[in-house]
Amino acid sequence: MTALEETLVLVKPDGVARGLTGEILGRIEAKGYALVDIRLVQADRDLLASHYEEHVGKPFYEPLVEFMQSGPTVAIRVAGNSVIAGFRSLAGTTDPTTAAPGTIRGDLGRDWGLKVQQNLVHGSDSPESAARELALWF
Ligand code: TYD
Ligand code: MG
Repeated sequence: MTALEETLVLVKPDGVARGLTGEILGRIEAKGYALVDIRLVQADRDLLASHYEEHVGKPFYEPLVEFMQSGPTVAIRVAGNSVIAGFRSLAGTTDPTTAAPGTIRGDLGRDWGLKVQQNLVHGSDSPESAARELALWF
């Protein structure tokens, strides 16, 4: 079963700083997903507090929100069949040091000197999250 969906993809500040935006966009396009909208955003604390509301109070929350303000983020509205789960599959598991080869995090994520938060991309995790997050970034 597939359904036409939209998801929010973020190229996080580490991906932008490392010059990987084009590579990541290329993987999204090569999969056949449509780029519907795109913008470069310097995220502030308010936006990030809303975006990461499910993680408020967790030990990694503060470092995550600091890191996400360290430089610009590329926000992309992506459409495709089952794109919400499909993009998360393309991205790989959260920790880039153990993400599978073939995934964005597995192929491009770094081990040495980097934290889990520097895992290059965000992808919405459900239709509800996608709708909520797209309204925040666009
Ligand atoms: P989460 O939503 O669990 O991961 P995902 O991005 O795969 O949906 O967590 C949000 C971000 O928080 C994650 O991309 C990286 C960071 N993070 C940490 O820094 N440490 C952690 O232990 C976890 C779970 C997440
Ligand atoms: Mg998440």
